[in-house]
Amino acid sequence: MNYNYLGDTGVRVSELGFGTMSFGGDADKETSAEIYKAVRDTGINYFDTADHYNHGLSETYLGEFSEHERKNLVLSTKFYFPTSDDVNDRGTSRKHLFENIHHSLKRLKTDYIDILFIHRFDENTSLEETLRALDDLIKSGEILYIGASNFATWQVMKAQGISMREGFSRIKCIQPMYSLVKRQAEVELLPMALSEKIGVVSYSPLGAGMLTGKYNKNTTPGNGRLVSNEMYKVRYGNDGMLDTAGKFTDFAEKNGFNPAALAVRWAASHKAVTCPLIGARNIEQLKGSLEALNIDMTEELRAEISVLSPEPASATDRNEEK
Ligand SMILES: NC(=O)c1ccc[n+]([C@@H]2O[C@H](COP(=O)([O-])OP(=O)(O)OC[C@H]3O[C@@H](n4cnc5c(N)ncnc54)[C@H](OP(=O)(O)O)[C@@H]3O)[C@@H](O)[C@H]2O)c1
Repeated sequence: MNYNYLGDTGVRVSELGFGTMSFGGDADKETSAEIYKAVRDTGINYFDTADHYNHGLSETYLGEFSEHERKNLVLSTKFYFPTSDDVNDRGTSRKHLFENIHHSLKRLKTDYIDILFIHRFDENTSLEETLRALDDLIKSGEILYIGASNFATWQVMKAQGISMREGFSRIKCIQPMYSLVKRQAEVELLPMALSEKIGVVSYSPLGAGMLTGKYNKNTTPGNGRLVSNEMYKVRYGNDGMLDTAGKFTDFAEKNGFNPAALAVRWAASHKAVTCPLIGARNIEQLKGSLEALNIDMTEELRAEISVLSPEPASATDRNEEK
């Protein structure tokens, strides 16, 4: 296992991270425990969760499984989405953050969270209020680093500007979606992260299952997130993606790769990416993604795969200058 530096924090995380969104949902407690152990056996030291995943069960299980080896792990969780019906149990207000962090810490059975991600940008809360509250949590020791997930590049840079002006701790890590069927991050976010030395923990390297070989124009599996979850159906609902998934699977099989492993390795091979977060509902799925560790992703192989999906236009749209 290789361990990469997370931006300029000096902290090292395994080249693959594990996302526990399935814990307490698609994976029951027994299976989640089995997955946790198998992940740890590979040397993976980074685990991601969120306060609202499976009504807190993802954090609870992760806390139980990891308590005995807390200091050897890098743990991240997130806040923004509603955690109850109460009107204030949501968003990035100081009030919600201060109340919510204690629930996360308790469920995770820890005194501190390594990276706390703002799960998405909140149009109803002043960014300065959120950043000041996060900075206070750093000062009081409940969190070590601030992360931003699903932010546009301008939103990250706006936050960094406020933090520099006010003397707050800056965002040290971003968590964008990134796979062969979701390449928007290549345009602005990933170049920004490289330029600003911000860590990148990308998510959904398999396109939430789309790049595993089970989805193509003629067949869809009986179950799976992209058929059973309305939000994911929309996120991955355009025909071009199915087309890419088909071409990618053919390429992988022709060249002797497990498609899931190749998809994870491709996402990991962007030079801005610190580690992709893999997900699984059982050990078999996990094994597929872990095979990525055995693939040597050369520049040539990356280029051959990259042409299988449309490359997003550059930020200036002057593609001839690349
Ligand atoms: N910040 C955010 O907004 C955000 C959003 C999403 C995820 N995340 C984080 O990133 C982590 C990983 O995301 P993800 O689960 O979307 O990642 P992913 O690796 O792209 O997708 C994993 C899913 O693909 C399917 N799958 C995996 N291996 C397979 C195999 N070998 N064969 C067939 N199907 C397979 C399974 O779903 P099915 O069995 O249902 O098909 C599995 O749950 C999450 O746990 C979470 O921590 C963050």
